[in-house]
Parts: sequence; C-alpha cells; structure tokens
Amino acid sequence: MSADNVKPQDAKPLAPKTAPASWYVDPARWEIERQKVFADNWQFLAHESDLAEPRAWRADVLAGFPVILVRGDDGVIRAFHNVCRHRAGPLNIEESGICDGYLTCKYHGWKYALDGRLRAARDFGPAADFDPRDFSLFPIEIETWRGLIFAGIGETLPSLAEQMAPLDARLDDADWSSLKVGLRRQHLLKCNWKTYVENYLEGYHVPDVHPGLDAEIIAAEYKVTVEGKVALHTAPPKSSDAVYDGLWAWVWPNIGVNVYNKGLMIERMSPVGHHATQLDYIYLTPGGVEVPDATLAMSDQVTAEDRWITERVQQNLNAGVYETGRLSPKHEVAVMAFQDRVRAAVG
Ligand code: FES
Ligand SMILES: [Fe+2]
Repeated sequence: MSADNVKPQDAKPLAPKTAPASWYVDPARWEIERQKVFADNWQFLAHESDLAEPRAWRADVLAGFPVILVRGDDGVIRAFHNVCRHRAGPLNIEESGICDGYLTCKYHGWKYALDGRLRAARDFGPAADFDPRDFSLFPIEIETWRGLIFAGIGETLPSLAEQMAPLDARLDDADWSSLKVGLRRQHLLKCNWKTYVENYLEGYHVPDVHPGLDAEIIAAEYKVTVEGKVALHTAPPKSSDAVYDGLWAWVWPNIGVNVYNKGLMIERMSPVGHHATQLDYIYLTPGGVEVPDATLAMSDQVTAEDRWITERVQQNLNAGVYETGRLSPKHEVAVMAFQDRVRAAVG
C-alpha cells in the first residue's frame, strides 16, 4: 500500500458533489424516471379505509399513470390501469365513489367486471375477429403494509416488506387498525419532484426556513439517518406537548410517514411531469375523527415555507447559472443516499 492510500485516523468525511442541475430541468430524464424510479418501485396509493365497502373505487395518477382501485363484491381490492382497452378512454375520472358493480368507460360505455374482465362492449356490432376475453383491463400489483396500499406498476418489483422493515422496527407493536382517513389535502408546487424530496431529506434548512418549527425542537440535536430505503429524522421536541413528536420518516421513492402525537400523516410527493410536484397529505386518525387544529396549522405553515424555498431553488436551477454544489456530510447524508439511488436507477 502506498503512503497516498493511508488515511489518518481523524480523516474528515468527504463532501460529495450534488447531482447536476440538469437532473431537475431536463424533461427527457422524467420519461426515464417514470419507469425506473416510479413504475419499478412501490408507490403509495390509498388507505384501506378509502375502500371500506364492496364496489368502492378510487382513481389516481401515479407518475403519469392513471390508475383505478376497486373493491370487488368478493371483498378483494384490485388495481388496474384506468385505461379502456377499446380506444384508451377513462373508466372513472372523479376521485372516488361507489360503482354499480361494473367499471364503465366514459367514452363509449364498455363495461368491465370488478376483476377486470370485459363484460360488455356496448353496441360494438358483429365482428368475426373480436373476442372480449382478450380485452381485460391491464392489472396492477398491489401490496398492503399496516393498512396502506401500495401499487407496483412495473414487472420487476422489490420486496415491500423488506423496504419497510426499518419502520416496522421503530413502530414495533403500534396498532394502526382503528385509523381511518380523516382528511386529505393537496398542494401543487412549481418544482421538480426531486427538488422537493431533497428538501424533505435534510433538517439543515430548518433554522433559516422554518423559524416556528425551529422554536419547537432542539435544533442542535436534529439528526437524519438512512436505513436502506428509509430515512429517519429525529428532532427532539423542547416540550412534551409539541406537535412534532414521534416518528418522522421518508421512504423511497416519494412518501413521508409522519407519526404525530395525535395521529399519522402520509405525505406523497407525486411528480406531475418534470416541472411540478403535487403533495398529497392523507391524515389518518382513530376512527377518522377530525384532525386537531394545531396539527393542521403547523403543517400549513411548514408547507408554505417549504413551497417558498423549493420553488425559488427550482427557478435558480432553471436559470442555468448553477451547475453543481457540495453536500454536507453532517446534515445531508440522506440527500446523498437519495441521489445515489436515483443515479443507480436512471444512470
Ligand atoms: S374507449 Fe372505452 S368504450 Fe371506447
Ligand atoms: Fe422544510
């Protein structure tokens, strides 16, 4: 071993370069990310309480893929691409509802059974080479973890259970069985989804961007650790009645799992193309009771502050002046891990 390779015991950690600005502005990257980051990974779709009864359905868009989730008369929840096999019409366009036992296309009225089979091609007329059995809806795999339903669009999916193991270890025997959706909120941000996720993955900005939150936590003890595909924030509250108390986690590629002192909030950071990000907040409370005002007020405040900074960062990335910077080994390990994962998936 040459002397050049010997590291002194007290060697400082390295500060790797950030991902280049092109990651956040090039629409061509988005087309690859849709497949490699989103379709090929588990994406949070809904909570079981969203589909409490047979025939309940819910439509959504996951990384540009319109999907529909429905509970059959047999009690089984199934997911499909929300794309009719005739000429690609939508089966349902509103957010959620109860159907009449069929998913019916809004374009020419083809009817599908809740297991996806085409039951009636309305007034199609005689056609020798058309067999309805060949035109079932395209299925999507789903898996459930603690009542949260995840969709896997791609053909090769990782293990959801393995991915969630670090959270299970923290949650231990926490009982979420009585939780129901108490409130949904959406915010549309003018930034690339990665700009928002990376902001979520570090507490370095808290003193400058979130003075209200900063006053509630012991900033010097703010820590972010990475365990596999999970990043865990620890920010001890100054007082025992603080809103932010409990587990504050992020799971690849795009959800936050935030355990408050009075419930749970799932935050999905959904890309809308490469230039916008929709935040879907799903508050889960015991029996679906109202979300405490203090929780909402703090959430609104923090979201407004994060919107303000991430939209301005995006504007600067778009401007073409900045190419790359450096990441702090003290504060930005989860940003490094995220960028490594995106690099591994997309190249
Ligand atoms: S596109 Fe669905 S019935 Fe024509
Ligand atoms: Fe923030």
